[in-house]
Amino acid sequence: MSTGWPCEMASAPADSLHRAGWPAEHEAMTTQDIREWVRTELWDQVPVRIAVIDRNLRIVEANRAFGRTFGPWRNRPCYTVYKGRAEKCVRCEASESFEDGVARVREEEGKLPNGEPIHYLVRIHPIERPDGHIPFLVEMSTDITMLKTLEHEKLEAERLAAVGQTVAGLAHGIKNLLMGLDGGMYMARSGIEQGNPERMIQGWGILEENVARISSFVREFLEFARGRTPRVQLVDPNEPARKVMELFKDTARLAGVELTADLDETIALAPLDEEGIHSCLANLVSNALDACDTSDKSENHVTLSTREQGGVIVYEVRDDGQGMDYDVKKKVFSNFFSTKASGKGTGLGLLTTRKIVQEHGGKVSFDSREGEGAVFRIELPRNRLPQPRAEADDE
Ligand SMILES: Nc1ncnc2c1ncn2[C@@H]1O[C@H](COP(=O)(O)OP(=O)(O)OP(=O)(O)O)[C@@H](O)[C@H]1O
Ligand SMILES: [Mg+2]
Repeated sequence: MSTGWPCEMASAPADSLHRAGWPAEHEAMTTQDIREWVRTELWDQVPVRIAVIDRNLRIVEANRAFGRTFGPWRNRPCYTVYKGRAEKCVRCEASESFEDGVARVREEEGKLPNGEPIHYLVRIHPIERPDGHIPFLVEMSTDITMLKTLEHEKLEAERLAAVGQTVAGLAHGIKNLLMGLDGGMYMARSGIEQGNPERMIQGWGILEENVARISSFVREFLEFARGRTPRVQLVDPNEPARKVMELFKDTARLAGVELTADLDETIALAPLDEEGIHSCLANLVSNALDACDTSDKSENHVTLSTREQGGVIVYEVRDDGQGMDYDVKKKVFSNFFSTKASGKGTGLGLLTTRKIVQEHGGKVSFDSREGEGAVFRIELPRNRLPQPRAEADDE
């Protein structure tokens, strides 16, 4: 019988395994026995859930660990066993691997027989015949629920630590604004005392302006502290970019900045929290416009672009504003750092952006040269994007 094993292995003395810690009672085992053991025991003893699925997405073979975790599986569809679904998943990686023969790795959220959620990392390997036909896929899943919980707790702890630091920043910011209120009150009161309506109106104006600043400051802080649950749905990734362009077009025109969009219209739908991505892009565009406002150049440009590269959706906001020096670059994402005037910047924009992007499994990066401008980039690998809402709901 052909073993399929390398001949060195086939003739390897069993005692070399004994030296490597193989139990003494197994000393007399032949290579054939070992092979048999691997086939019958290792399959069931590895702490990895292994399943073999056919082209109808039915599970035709699975090991003991798989059955223990996901319950009865024989001839049942993978989406029912893994996720308790009645229908195929909205995005089916297995079908893609049957199509293109490419192995895939993906994080998934499933449902255990007791209804509890499970996060697992699944490696999908096509089994390809010499004629190129792929009758089966092997799926190997590792339980990463604990890791996911820790990751979530870490993000939450970081957010709360950041909230603590913001409270200090907030108190400081409000103190400055209170000074503004004092000034306004003084002016309004002296206007009343002197019967000087012009002074009264001027004082009242200062009061209004500073009260408005305090309320927007507090609102922004509360939004950050509370956090929000992402609403993930299949959307056109360009849609939030178009809305942000619309939102900022007048501001840019008034500031004398040329704001342009360069959107790749071929990007396919993706599971995104559109509102979250919108607020990330709004943060980046508003930072870019601010950077142009303080630049020395007579003309400034800001470009918002999108593209997809090797399964990664990329948003980019490029400006030729004041750029950043070494010190600013070191601090942009930390410590609620803002170089803007009190009341104008709270230093929460990039932090919130990073949080939302991380919730999408992506990252934010930037390049900048002092005096030349900056480019901020959001990269969202498709295979790390969260499951769309509709899919999670009907599980
Ligand atoms: N495009 C850019 N060009 C130059 N500096 C930038 C740019 N984007 C961000 N920065 C710097 O990073 C700092 C932090 O930005 P961030 O968006 O976090 O806060 P902010 O804009 O100051 O305040 P907020 O967004 O909360 O109103 C900014 O104050 C600025 O110094
Ligand atoms: Mg900002």
